[in-house]
Amino acid sequence: MKCGLVPGTFDPVTSGHLDIIERAAALFDEVIVAVAHSDKKGGGPLFSATERVSLIETATAHLPNVSVREFDTLLVDFAHEVGASIIVKGLRAMTDFECEFQMSALNWRLNSRVETMFIMAIPEFMFLSSSAVKEIAAHGGSVRGLVPEVVCDALARKMSSTC
Ligand code: PNS
Repeated sequence: MKCGLVPGTFDPVTSGHLDIIERAAALFDEVIVAVAHSDKKGGGPLFSATERVSLIETATAHLPNVSVREFDTLLVDFAHEVGASIIVKGLRAMTDFECEFQMSALNWRLNSRVETMFIMAIPEFMFLSSSAVKEIAAHGGSVRGLVPEVVCDALARKMSSTC
């Protein structure tokens, strides 16, 4: 039984994240999406951890082998706690590489039994990020197609943007 862990802040989950989760779900028996609290990141997340978990649960309802959990510990410790031996991350443009390379090296240093694997983003989502989505929504732009439908509605409610 191979379990993959797809971690992130997911503030909010985008269509790019969802694509990576769907592709991981096809590769592993079980996939756990690990939502980091990330309370100290930037000015703090727009959506609470509970809201982010709920949005991902709705967006992944069609994937029976995917579950969503929040965590506020070291990622490798959480992987050990839930019995996942592989961290799965999406890789977009080259700008992701340096940061992801550093994180995977540190995670390996912390627990070398937990492997990190990368899935390349498809060209359509190569330059998509949660921050860009929030910026577009904050200025009243439409994020339809860039995020799952449920997130589009949640952003519209939170930011009075259009969906
Ligand atoms: O979506 P993000 O913000 O790029 O995800 C980053 C995340 C949450 C995967 C990363 O910050 C993380 O693993 N946080 C948990 C704390 C931890 O284990 N830090 C050491 C890794 S360098």
